[in-house]
Amino acid sequence: MRYVYGTCGILRRLYSTYGSGFKKSSTWTPQKNSTPHYIPYGEDGSGFYSDNALGYYNIMENAKPMVMAAINSMEIDPKHVFNIVDYGSADGGTSMPLFYQVIKKLRERYGDSPPIHVTYEDQPVADFKSLFMRLQGLLPMPDNHSYLKDFHNVYVGACGMSFFDQCFEDGFVNFGFSSTAMHWLSRGPCPLPDAVFHMVSSCGEAKEQFATQAAQDWETILLQRARELTPGGHMVIVNCTSDESGYYGGGRWTFGHVNMCQKLSSLWHSFAQRGKITKEEFVNTNMFAYWRSQDEMQAPFVNENSRVRKAGLTLVSQETKPTPCAFQARWQKEGGDARQHAKQFVNMCRSWSNHAFHAGLSNKRTEEEKAAILESFFKEYEDEVAAAPEKHDMEVMSCFLHIKRN
Ligand SMILES: C[S@@+](CC[C@H](N)C(=O)[O-])C[C@H]1O[C@@H](n2cnc3c(N)ncnc32)[C@H](O)[C@@H]1O
Repeated sequence: MRYVYGTCGILRRLYSTYGSGFKKSSTWTPQKNSTPHYIPYGEDGSGFYSDNALGYYNIMENAKPMVMAAINSMEIDPKHVFNIVDYGSADGGTSMPLFYQVIKKLRERYGDSPPIHVTYEDQPVADFKSLFMRLQGLLPMPDNHSYLKDFHNVYVGACGMSFFDQCFEDGFVNFGFSSTAMHWLSRGPCPLPDAVFHMVSSCGEAKEQFATQAAQDWETILLQRARELTPGGHMVIVNCTSDESGYYGGGRWTFGHVNMCQKLSSLWHSFAQRGKITKEEFVNTNMFAYWRSQDEMQAPFVNENSRVRKAGLTLVSQETKPTPCAFQARWQKEGGDARQHAKQFVNMCRSWSNHAFHAGLSNKRTEEEKAAILESFFKEYEDEVAAAPEKHDMEVMSCFLHIKRN
């Protein structure tokens, strides 16, 4: 596929600003579906993701009423294994408290039966080592509890697949769950010429291509889950979204906050302007993720003849709500060392964004050069947060979907 510049006003403007620096990017080769483009940041087995993902525990807490309603509504056969899957689990720490509550509820209702099996699904490059270490208490367990240690007849496993593929045999899953993972796309449809995130870009043509890719991917994700869910099975999916006003989280500029997605884009752009990276590297740095609107999320369920409805999925309920930034809340309540606060705030953002900035850098650079650029990039962000902690915020807008397999 060729991506032709020049049909988009913004692209033309950037092109004239940056001159021939953009020429080489005018032929765009999309990545293959199977290539993981999200590479976790942090050493395997270090627990980096869940140690720094403070706010993501709160998103799970926000999902709890819907998850419990789904579990309570299910007809469960205590003689059969009850299979739970966490799709896009990362190192699994953030969903541990929620799954503790689910397993506690099942044990209260059915005693020590049925056997419960929790499978953590994520890309083959995920930090599964930290997952098992945390479940076994070899890394700090959230609230000092692991359901694996506290309940009988509970088993865990991992599945190193992409959620765009069928990950389990037909009818395997009783309860599926996914949080803040399915906004990642299967492939990059085109580069964003003027921003790192599609929400920040002003290029209508590129945004349209992102929207088309996201619609295809959403249908694929749902059709695969329709195969994997057992009839009568339920699933709760928590997706990044934007509200009616178009606010997509990351900090409200109306409150005088610095928006994280805008900051990452503008700081990286300033790296290009200051010659720390090339203009081409700026264009080639893209977050291949999409914040679907609530309508886009609902679309596959509306028409009873849609492929998703025909595959047996029904949307039981849908709710959109923000999860306030846990770092900002802690700062407002406790204050403390601004540098330490900034380090953790930026680490959290780096855990899911580092891979995209790394991928944008030219392959002509050595790994050492790339590492130095990324260190200085995130250090500059950290300095800005340390100088004004009250201005930096990472509120997350999430759409919570309860889906049932007929
Ligand atoms: C921000 S983390 C969320 C982790 C965890 N669910 C939470 O809410 O804290 C996003 C996760 O989605 C995973 N992911 C992205 N694309 C994926 C794919 N195609 N298949 C499976 N997992 C994917 C990433 O590897 C990453 O672990």
